[in-house]
Amino acid sequence: MNSRETILVLDYGSQYNQLICRRIRELGVYTELLPPDTALTKVLSLKPKGIVLSGGPASVYDKDAPQLPDWILKQNLPVLGICYGMQLLAKEFNGEVRSSLKREYGPAQIEILNSSPLFQNIKTGSSCWMSHGDEVSKIPSPFHVLARSLSGLISAVGNDEKKIYGVQFHPEVTHTLFGKTLLKNFLKICNCQFSWNLNSFIQDSIQQIQEQVKEEKVICGVSGGIDSTVAALLTAKAVGKNLHSVFVDTGLLRENEKQDVIEILSHFPMSFHVSNSAEFFLKELKNVEDPEKKRKIIGRTFIQLFEKKAKSLNVKFLAQGTLYPDVIESSVGKNKLSAKIKTHHNVGGLPKNMKLELIEPLRYLFKDEVREIGKTLGLPDKILKRQPFPGPGLAVRILGAVDEKRLSLLRKADLIVQEEIEKTKEAGKLWQYFAVLLPLKTVGVMGDKRTYEQVAAIRAVHSQDGMTASSAPLPWKVLNQISSRIISEVKGINRVVYDITPKPPGTIEWE
Ligand code: XMP
Repeated sequence: MNSRETILVLDYGSQYNQLICRRIRELGVYTELLPPDTALTKVLSLKPKGIVLSGGPASVYDKDAPQLPDWILKQNLPVLGICYGMQLLAKEFNGEVRSSLKREYGPAQIEILNSSPLFQNIKTGSSCWMSHGDEVSKIPSPFHVLARSLSGLISAVGNDEKKIYGVQFHPEVTHTLFGKTLLKNFLKICNCQFSWNLNSFIQDSIQQIQEQVKEEKVICGVSGGIDSTVAALLTAKAVGKNLHSVFVDTGLLRENEKQDVIEILSHFPMSFHVSNSAEFFLKELKNVEDPEKKRKIIGRTFIQLFEKKAKSLNVKFLAQGTLYPDVIESSVGKNKLSAKIKTHHNVGGLPKNMKLELIEPLRYLFKDEVREIGKTLGLPDKILKRQPFPGPGLAVRILGAVDEKRLSLLRKADLIVQEEIEKTKEAGKLWQYFAVLLPLKTVGVMGDKRTYEQVAAIRAVHSQDGMTASSAPLPWKVLNQISSRIISEVKGINRVVYDITPKPPGTIEWE
């Protein structure tokens, strides 16, 4: 079934492991990130042409340190270990790893000591990015030292015959200036043809959905956002009339959102249903304050609705626009090595006993890749340029309990944020901008009278893919205008603050 060439990245918990996948895909080869304990049958079904071992926070001799799977060296595939991955290889071949005497963190220059296809077109003295506390201190016998850093530590080892390599630095980060060249060299060693691109992804996805679904019907939740629309369009291309798309009015939508989305989506070539479920969601969320509880309740409520609809339409499959960052941040794989941040409504929020079988064609893609696919599929700018909006909607932008009154306050404040930022040139450059309602009241004075009302925060961020973000330095004039409009037009809010926290340590949404 799997004809595309694939590189597997085994995830040892590095904060950079998604970047490894991105860089390899940018080079034209498909990658998947899998936990090290993935079953060999799953690995073989992907027919990998090579394996990358990611970095990670552990030390290889730690009691619970994640180890090399025992199948890995028996497959005779090229292997590239990065940082912790290199240390694992060293340990496996009876080398030695120790806590580094000179901790290397940040930029470092390397001296290339032995020629190897891995270092083709890379000049000695080039700069790379280091981030390690342990080092390989004794090289195992089948390897040669390929490079050392100027502080004398082993930076790269390899065996060209066995096609096994380790690098102590991180080729996936842009600070390693030759990083992409090195990854490309490894892909050449793996004999890759560099033929993967988003067009081939579209064709593969359609074929996979057809093989999974056959003659059955599919239901797809659509929100008007790019992810669910692209997932629905790919599914529609695969199953035609057997797709039923459903837009759910959760009551947690922004001002005018329901009408806008219905207007756009009803023109698409798929059968389109609207589920008016605001009352149901608000009842389920009544008095719930905890962010994770809110997210789980919303995930569960969505599924209850879809299952009901699916039953009435005799549908077996549920298509969703789940993206890779949703999966990573919800941390739902067997991989316990990266921490769970929040339960994205369509991943960790799903009930265990769900009857519908999932179709998630975008599960391994990043947002910008989905945008590219959307463009290729001919989506209008209204959808392509729409800001991301979380499935749990305004519920995760209202801190504390959610009710109709607080929703109405937030909608009004949010509309003002949208209108004022859209008047500026900044709008097109921002990833997201919105208002948040805080669970606080503060004292103010208006028209000589004391007020005691709620606080709204403004959030506006720049981001590439939602994984990291920086707070946007909006002009003071714009912030002032937003604040003065909210306070004079939204009765119930008497204070406005601006959130200047980057991600990390903050997240983009407040809950
Ligand atoms: P955080 O808050 O985790 O958000 O920094 C990263 C990006 O993901 C969006 N987001 C979600 N999208 N379901 C979604 O479809 C969710 O549950 C969800 N939570 C956050 C968020 O708006 C930002 O763009």
